[in-house]
Amino acid sequence: MSVLTIAVPKGRVLRPLSALLERAGVDAACLLADDRRLIRTTADGALRFLLLKPDDVPTYVEYGAADLGVSGRDMLLERRYELYQPLDLEIGRCRMVVAARRGTTQPAVPRVATKYPRVTGDHFAARGIQAEIIYVQGSVELAPLVGLADLIVDLVETGATLVENDLEERELIAPISSVLVANRAQYKLRHDAIRPLVERLRSAV
Ligand code: PRP
Repeated sequence: MSVLTIAVPKGRVLRPLSALLERAGVDAACLLADDRRLIRTTADGALRFLLLKPDDVPTYVEYGAADLGVSGRDMLLERRYELYQPLDLEIGRCRMVVAARRGTTQPAVPRVATKYPRVTGDHFAARGIQAEIIYVQGSVELAPLVGLADLIVDLVETGATLVENDLEERELIAPISSVLVANRAQYKLRHDAIRPLVERLRSAV
């Protein structure tokens, strides 16, 4: 039996993901072990997990370093990867929104801070609004508070970060969740190994 390799995101999705895997009959205890190992193998040796920064998951799968991966739909919208997307895992649910400082009016040519420049550019272009897009990697909510930007495009889960930084949601761009992605070649070559796991996950979802 050859091992299947699955790229998974470190961070807040790991706990709901391991619960989902357990429901699908996978012993995912290794995922929650509190240590620094970046490769974790299930007790039965059938699955090997690579623990990655969330944004790097699609890259590992696209190049075949992992057969499967779990990626936020945000990254799949932002970058064009050659990947199969066999299943929405319906975990890590949040939404991508336009937000602004409470009560402010939007200038004719807004400056928009975001880590999603392509989605943001497409969104404003579709509305006929010229926008100046400023790329930032994180803590995006800070940008309107210090004059870097008029608007932000970012993910909102509970809304607490917006509220605590005096921001308000203006527009929904897309609902987001975690998606199972697969390397195109491996999905065909290793179909007999991948297919049963995908079906068990589908039932667990
Ligand atoms: C994410 C997102 C928001 C926040 C939303 O950031 O970018 O900042 O969570 O969550 P909430 O609506 O429940 O408050 P994350 O914590 O991943 O860190 P980052 O700002 O470095 O991207």
